Amino acid sequence: MNALELQDITVTFRSKDDPGQRYTAVADTTLRVGAGEFVSVVGPTGCGKSTLLNIGAGLLQASSGQVRVFGEPLTGINRRAGYMFQAEALMPWRSALANVMVGLQYRGVPEADARDQARSWLARVGLSGFEDRYPHQLSGGMRKRTALAQVLALDPDIILMDEPFSALDIQTRQLMENEVLALWAAKRKAVLFITHDLDEAIAMSDRVVVLSAGPATHPIGEFGIDLPRPRDVAEVRNQPRFVQLHADIWAVLRDEVLKGYAQQLKKPVLSSVEGAA
Ligand SMILES: Nc1ncnc2c1ncn2[C@@H]1O[C@H](COP(=O)(O)OP(=O)(O)O)[C@@H](O)[C@H]1O
Ligand SMILES: [Mg+2]
Repeated sequence: MNALELQDITVTFRSKDDPGQRYTAVADTTLRVGAGEFVSVVGPTGCGKSTLLNIGAGLLQASSGQVRVFGEPLTGINRRAGYMFQAEALMPWRSALANVMVGLQYRGVPEADARDQARSWLARVGLSGFEDRYPHQLSGGMRKRTALAQVLALDPDIILMDEPFSALDIQTRQLMENEVLALWAAKRKAVLFITHDLDEAIAMSDRVVVLSAGPATHPIGEFGIDLPRPRDVAEVRNQPRFVQLHADIWAVLRDEVLKGYAQQLKKPVLSSVEGAA
């Protein structure tokens, strides 16, 4: 059973200034995440990773193609999914506890229950004793833990993560990655994890999907990650099998990263030429 299935997805954006001008970000993309499976999607910056995640979340509607959630066509927001984005999503005027409680309260969980559940989730992500702190009183890593507790407290069947740890320093990041793996192993939710970091993708996942550079991004490679679990994301990198997988996937990803980079360099140059003319 697939928890999430994107089938033949194409996403075309229209320019706001000139509606005749279109940009096809994603083309004919099929992507499946099995129930309990941890799938990472890697690709160069700007290729369309977040676009795909937003399609799976039901936040964005595809120009063509179908999304299925546990076999059912998705219409509107994907209620069986929880999201964790790159940007900070905590409410600065609410304590850590109140931030974790908010989704539960929105679902109609009574105040006292919501408080207990939120407290227990904060404990599970290592934040016992920090319940009353406000986001500005927490470190970047602690804010990410709070955001993680916020998502997990809702017990979603599918977890969508868009470069959630890219702003963290490497040690904090590896700690968080290990914690996510431990929590995932305990509950075995379907995870769609977006990253531009190949090491992170291999260390975390059952399967890694490589996207081409845009426009018209689509998968160009798919690799099963047969490294034993449980894994320590820092240590697994030294295993010969990891090194081999990294070389195999990088061989596919490398050219796309170079293409993506070249496109980014082109953009500002073009606009400055227009400005000079
Ligand atoms: N709402 C939008 N309107 C127009 N173009 C967009 C919109 N969202 C994304 N894009 C474009 O689609 C491409 C893919 O974006 P995105 O999915 O954010 O890339 P990634 O997450 O891989 O860095 C980019 O070229 C971006 O500029
Ligand atoms: Mg993105």
